[in-house]
Amino acid sequence: MDWSKGVLTGDSVQSFSKTLGQVRSIFQDQAAASRLPAELELYRVQLFAPVAEGTEGGLFWGSTTIHPGKVGDEYYMTKGHFHRLRNRGEYYATVHGEGALLLMDEQGATRYETMLPGSMHYIPGNTAHRVANTGSVPLVFAACWPSDAGHDYETIEREGFSARMLERNGKPVLVPRG
Ligand code: PA5
Ligand code: NI
Repeated sequence: MDWSKGVLTGDSVQSFSKTLGQVRSIFQDQAAASRLPAELELYRVQLFAPVAEGTEGGLFWGSTTIHPGKVGDEYYMTKGHFHRLRNRGEYYATVHGEGALLLMDEQGATRYETMLPGSMHYIPGNTAHRVANTGSVPLVFAACWPSDAGHDYETIEREGFSARMLERNGKPVLVPRG
């Protein structure tokens, strides 16, 4: 890993790209979302998976880069998920840029932590997590999570987070669902 850029290299590193077309429904302003091209890349994930997905006791390492930008007044963000094995935790650590890590418990209470270069974030088990790029440069963060955690995207697709990170008067504000 290049620690100045957060980029992973190596034969076994996998890369994924998330486009607006793949995640369009997560944004509040669907009219604004429909004006942007489906192939617009919002973020990229690199993954180092030394054991098979689902292996108990192993760890995965990832690096995510979220481009700067907004859909309406909502910052580009990750899809967000609970872990399929709900009690599995995770670490995020910011390499570059500025962001907000949204954390929602199973009762639907959402809070956030500010991400800045060097900031460490412990995501407890039973907590959905999503990252928004609130700055004007790419936001890059590393992640480490148990190889048996899995990703439950369906719950968030169905229910969303109870708050959104929106720009208000040029600043990021956590706005609870009305
Ligand atoms: O495992 C994680 O939590 C991260 O590596 C995320 O998968 C990554 O940041 C992309 O977010 P999402 O999986 O919610 O699209
Ligand atoms: Ni996760």
